[in-house]
Amino acid sequence: MRFPDGFIWGAATAAYQIEGAVRDDGRGPSIWDTFSRTPGRVHAGHTGDVACDHYHRYADDVALMAQLGLGSYRYSISWPRIQPDGTGPVNTRGLDFYDRLTDELIGKGIDPVVTLYHWDLPQTLQDRGGWTVRATAEAFAEYAQIVHARLGDRVRTWTTLNEPWCSAFLGYAAGIHAPGIADPAAAFAAVHHLLLGHGLAARALRSAGARSVGITLNPASVHPLDPDSAADQHAARLVDGLHNRIFLDPLLRGRYPDDMRAHMARFCDLSFLADGDEAIMNAPIDVLGVNYYQPTYVFAKPGEPGSPVSPGTEGVGARAPVGPVTDMNWQIEPAALTRLLERLHRDYGVPMLITENGAAYPDGPAPDTGRVADTNRIEYLDGHLRACHDAITRGVDLRGYFVWSFLDNFEWAEGYAKRFGIVHVDYTTQQRVAKDSAWWYRDVIRRGGLEDR
Ligand code: FCB
Repeated sequence: MRFPDGFIWGAATAAYQIEGAVRDDGRGPSIWDTFSRTPGRVHAGHTGDVACDHYHRYADDVALMAQLGLGSYRYSISWPRIQPDGTGPVNTRGLDFYDRLTDELIGKGIDPVVTLYHWDLPQTLQDRGGWTVRATAEAFAEYAQIVHARLGDRVRTWTTLNEPWCSAFLGYAAGIHAPGIADPAAAFAAVHHLLLGHGLAARALRSAGARSVGITLNPASVHPLDPDSAADQHAARLVDGLHNRIFLDPLLRGRYPDDMRAHMARFCDLSFLADGDEAIMNAPIDVLGVNYYQPTYVFAKPGEPGSPVSPGTEGVGARAPVGPVTDMNWQIEPAALTRLLERLHRDYGVPMLITENGAAYPDGPAPDTGRVADTNRIEYLDGHLRACHDAITRGVDLRGYFVWSFLDNFEWAEGYAKRFGIVHVDYTTQQRVAKDSAWWYRDVIRRGGLEDR
């Protein structure tokens, strides 16, 4: 099972999840510093204060990436390191860190893929309304230009936002991620300004000479529980709208879908939607990043109150995971990834990268050998790579795959309780141990694919 020549083999992380060093070199506070220090928000009161201490250990981490043969590394830039107040003065010491990291990667032949926003909004911008206000979208474009001016001579691939669905709906509708707000109207305003921020930043990056510009979504592979039931199909259409089309249509077709415009109008007056905004969101992209973990099965369920995560889904039920699940209780179904990629290809015709895929399992080093035998993770990754290969065989333009994650790290509201890494991190000693899955992945990369089964 060989993948096409030039297929990108990578791994991914995000700044707040691994860097630590939250007070070093002039970094300002982010919404995740505030949120994680608010009692009851994050598992066991964990914070990203130290995390994997990658800020100080990046050179060793890159050396390990090189040992594994990674072709590419996707990392995010911490906005509050670059502009501690979100706007205005640039903190050059923050830029210096990403400069060193980028040079280290390139020195080892690893292609850098930069995400500009992986959820750590400067707290001062949140104090002025966060993603519910237009000024944040404008500030984001300015910040994108600042980072590009420093790294653009070496970084070819730019991703504006990571999973704006999570920022908007987990952050502003359900309140289970920073900034912890539970207000559907705010969530839809956030959707709008995230998309606008993407569009403004994409244009700015392009005019500054960026070669490849994209955005990463977490499109849901949504299915009606009973494919023959009209009511279940209707439920699936609504969830697909809220999860997928509300982002994909403005990004790739220049217009919110009519049903989603009407849906938003149930919660707010849409006064945030100015003439020309959708055209800005529709800035050309070179590649769509897809993060995929698990499928979603929904059905009509009269009387169901609806999920706080998806405003306006009264009467829609979601099936609990069935079959094998990961430590996140996420259902394992690789074929749902193939279906998702085929659908995105058919409906939107855009080249894609899997910018995240992986699984949480608790395995640690065996006391006698020190080895981490995470066969469950190998199986998960193997199945999903086969699903990618199937999609390619069926004509999908899929250009690469990034494992989530290179390191065990701060898993947002779950703190350090969930381990997604192919490299184990001992948070007391900061010792790294490549798990069996890491060596397995090295062999996949060397071979350019999987062994036939
Ligand atoms: C995604 C996030 C990533 C990580 C994985 C498990 O939603 O982008 O940071 O938390 O889930």
